[in-house]
Amino acid sequence: MTRLLREAQARLKAAGLPEGEAWDLLALASGLSRRDLLLGLDKPPPPGTEARLEGLLGRRLSGYPLQYLLGEVEFFGLPLRVEEGVLIPRPETEGLVELALALPLPPTPRILDVGTGTGAIALALKAHLPQAEVYATEVDERALALARENARRLGLGVDFLHAPLTAGMEGLDLLVSNPPYLPEAYRRVAPPELAYENPLALYAGEEGLAVARPLALEGERALRPGGFLLLELAPENVHLLAQELRERGWEEVAVLRDLAGRDRYLRARRPA
Ligand SMILES: C[S@@+](CC[C@H](N)C(=O)[O-])C[C@H]1O[C@@H](n2cnc3c(N)ncnc32)[C@H](O)[C@@H]1O
Repeated sequence: MTRLLREAQARLKAAGLPEGEAWDLLALASGLSRRDLLLGLDKPPPPGTEARLEGLLGRRLSGYPLQYLLGEVEFFGLPLRVEEGVLIPRPETEGLVELALALPLPPTPRILDVGTGTGAIALALKAHLPQAEVYATEVDERALALARENARRLGLGVDFLHAPLTAGMEGLDLLVSNPPYLPEAYRRVAPPELAYENPLALYAGEEGLAVARPLALEGERALRPGGFLLLELAPENVHLLAQELRERGWEEVAVLRDLAGRDRYLRARRPA
């Protein structure tokens, strides 16, 4: 199998993709775990491996996302199922979860994750705050079904609602969301991988605030006084919404950076 691995690494590298993905693709093609693959690398591959690997490599080299081929992604230590059309949870959203966990929340907080996709944020918060009442909304039925499946597989109790924005909820301690936030103009320059994700999960009008802005407005009723709003946005629009919230009287409005140093997160408190 060493030859298959080396050839796959070389082809990925030549296409500008991480050569480490060859391990994932070979594991999937051979039906072996990464560990068994490593231990058996000098053995002949199981029957059919080479043909399956060729098929997988072909799709990957044409821009199909690795996570959709694998059907799984790790988010904040949780294995989550993903499928084409549902947003692949991103590492920067783990930063949003970290910010949420650092908030001074009450012992049994009421939390709502808006636009939950695979359930990533809601499930990570429930895993780390087992006493919390965690709700999540989603408008896309395919994503909602996947989020429910992820919750069931992980044994985490999150209440998923098929509804837009805050679903009329009230008394929340935390309203958290990674909404669609890319400006429409980005569609023209987006990397090919994004074509396999749902545009509903990515684009949000000219400024990229077509979901986040009404969500923040609803937050003025959905949050309890002093409750937190925490959003992931784009460096191009996070300051714009932060300024609008300041003008509307929100308190402790702050723009925070992701690990790459980009202005990415918006944190604010509903006035008491
Ligand atoms: C950027 S994705 C985030 C998915 C997930 N929270 C994550 O971080 O991986 C945005 C999600 O919001 C959903 N969405 C779009 N508009 C919405 C709305 N008005 N209300 C609720 N969800 C919405 C999309 O279907 C998509 O799943």
